[in-house]
Amino acid sequence: MNKIWYPFTQMKTNREPLKVRAGKGALLQLEDGRELIDGISSWWVNVLGHAHPGIAKAIYEQALKLEHVIFAGFTHDPAEQVAEKVTSLLPAHLKRVFFSDNGSTAVEVALKMAYQYWINRGEKRSTFICFGGSYHGDTIGAMSLGERSLFNRLFDSLLFSVDFVPYPSTFPRDEEIDAKEQRILALIEEKLSIDPKIAVVIEPLVQGVGGMQMCRPQFLQKLQNLVHAYDTLLIYDEVMTGFGRTGEWFACVKSCTQPDIVCLAKGLTGGFLPLALTVCSEEIFDAFYSEDACKTFYHGHSYTANPLGCAAACATIDLLKENPECFRGMEGRHKRFLSELSQHPMLKRVRTCGTIVAMDISTEQDDGYLNKIGKAFKEQCLDKGVLIRPLGNVVYLMPPYCITDEQLAIAYDAISSTLEGLSAAGLSPSKSKSC
Ligand SMILES: Cc1ncc(COP(=O)(O)O)c(C=O)c1O
Repeated sequence: MNKIWYPFTQMKTNREPLKVRAGKGALLQLEDGRELIDGISSWWVNVLGHAHPGIAKAIYEQALKLEHVIFAGFTHDPAEQVAEKVTSLLPAHLKRVFFSDNGSTAVEVALKMAYQYWINRGEKRSTFICFGGSYHGDTIGAMSLGERSLFNRLFDSLLFSVDFVPYPSTFPRDEEIDAKEQRILALIEEKLSIDPKIAVVIEPLVQGVGGMQMCRPQFLQKLQNLVHAYDTLLIYDEVMTGFGRTGEWFACVKSCTQPDIVCLAKGLTGGFLPLALTVCSEEIFDAFYSEDACKTFYHGHSYTANPLGCAAACATIDLLKENPECFRGMEGRHKRFLSELSQHPMLKRVRTCGTIVAMDISTEQDDGYLNKIGKAFKEQCLDKGVLIRPLGNVVYLMPPYCITDEQLAIAYDAISSTLEGLSAAGLSPSKSKSC
């Protein structure tokens, strides 16, 4: 009997998990001999392809030297190199790097850092402004910053409350977007003017779990100006958008904005090992730099800055630097495949941002995570050799950057033939038994 309790899985009703034997590039090889194209980079982490020999070698070589060491009172080259490499790619004022293990902890660190920043400066602030639809992870603090949803509603009484404003989601030919952004900015200004906030926290350019909602760079620029005019911190959760996902190194680079804190994880190690960073400005660091022990940032994890993770991160960044076209060129490749598909009558709001393409399927059910078409869609695409994991009625592709045009064509064919099958059978998910 398989004794594992799987994440995000109703163990009673879900089918047995598929066993994966190996991976290569954008492909996963299953135990039963089938091959799947990984259309979602295995939960958005794998940027350069599975089992990349360059990253594997870096980890192996590091393991022969030093596998791990306590990270308080001790340091090591791989961590210092990660800090150098990452800060050289971020806006210049982001100078200080705090290590942790995953996206949720990167966010926990950011929110504790921001909270204590004000205390260390002699001010007590108590609220964050966050965006509807946001997801920042599954720890209590990270859940508190996220939309109250199926994932966390049950824990509501354990979560601290934050002020939510709508996310300015947009898509090509959205005529409402100027007015929508203005309304949201006015709402944020109203909240900022009532009392000082700790920080505004946003998934910049693309809100992932919330349904691959995309916002405009100019919104982020206006948001930044507003937040800084009210002497508040701006936190970017770039756990998903980092390391080329949006077509640039980071969403803050693409949008020419200067957040005070940036959270990074997922693509950082190319999908090889868990590692995360919370990068902050010198001004924030300075508020903790003191003879007063109470101003210390008392946070850390046993595996903080694990040298193997750091070696994987250094190799990943070096490989991305050798060929930034792999992420910069992917939006153009998506668009070539989309020109026909986006006309499909069952699709709406077809949108792209760098390496990500997303589309909403029109169904008779409400849009959103609980829409049942996603599950049926996923199974049909698996039968066609493509791994996707729709978010309700939002189907998206977020492949490793090494995906070939042939593999991309298969992925798009799988989506389009699944749509065709559904419309030819006159199936809407509310009527379909397979859903
Ligand atoms: C924007 C964002 N923040 C945080 C997280 C949490 O990351 P992790 O699953 O590594 O804890 C995720 C995960 O999907 C995410 O998309």
